Amino acid sequence: MSVEGLVVQGLVVDVAGREILRGIDLAVQPGEVVAVMGPNGSGKSTLVSALMGRPGYQVRAGSATIGGRDLLSLSTSDRAHVGLSVVSQYPGEVEGVDAYQLVEEMYRTRGLPLDSFAQDLLSEATGVGLSTALLSRWLNVDLSGGEKKRLETVLLALSGAKIALLDEIDSGLDIDALRAVSRRVGDQVRQGGLGVLAITHYARLLRELVPTKVIVLAGGKIVREGDAGLALELEKTGYAEFLPESQEKSSDSIFGL
Ligand SMILES: Nc1ncnc2c1ncn2[C@@H]1O[C@H](COP(=O)(O)OP(=O)(O)OP(=O)(O)O)[C@@H](O)[C@H]1O
Ligand SMILES: [Mg+2]
Repeated sequence: MSVEGLVVQGLVVDVAGREILRGIDLAVQPGEVVAVMGPNGSGKSTLVSALMGRPGYQVRAGSATIGGRDLLSLSTSDRAHVGLSVVSQYPGEVEGVDAYQLVEEMYRTRGLPLDSFAQDLLSEATGVGLSTALLSRWLNVDLSGGEKKRLETVLLALSGAKIALLDEIDSGLDIDALRAVSRRVGDQVRQGGLGVLAITHYARLLRELVPTKVIVLAGGKIVREGDAGLALELEKTGYAEFLPESQEKSSDSIFGL
């Protein structure tokens, strides 16, 4: 297997003393989109948290590398330096820092000339339909759900990331924003060789951001893999076949089926 992109092998993760991920194997090559789908609570966000090194997500076994470099021994900021970028399911608010300051710092870290960062930020925001007035607010503070996802897309585009983990980047986006955001990320994949792990519940994101592979996570394990067609199939069938019987029955009873 090529070691250029993200390679995760046998990843076991505990959260609050419970085993949530039970041996995850996956790879995302540069210029490739891999989609991860699966029922609520199956461990998708836990995978992102463990790969970004969020405190409380304890890796019990397995490995994760980018370009052959071990990720798990690095601090969260060093993971960003080796090319990992994350759009969280619920982007955090950061008081005291605005988008201009963050992007200036990104450019400084990347050794890029500082004379163009503000113009680049403005043009990326315009490209995804984000009001440029919002760029001078503290990061994500008082932004709507959709505005946060647009801002995160702008920051991803300017980050120089090699691998992006997108945790439901489509949630909260209106139809036009979904198109703009998925096209912008798609351009990075095609032109910049970005590798994307795209977590989503809906096939519509994957119409623009076409995956080479769709992975289904249930109960902390990969239970199925397929091509882009699998997302469409799941949209029709749901996840009943992957749920433990008890959960299936309880959700049936809620809806009185
Ligand atoms: N910090 C935490 N403390 C306690 N339990 C957690 C924590 N993070 C995740 N979990 C638990 O781990 C399980 C997996 O959660 P996770 O957020 O990874 O699911 P998910 O697949 O992303 O679901 P969704 O589709 O709803 O976003 C859930 O049972 C959740 O309650
Ligand atoms: Mg989640």
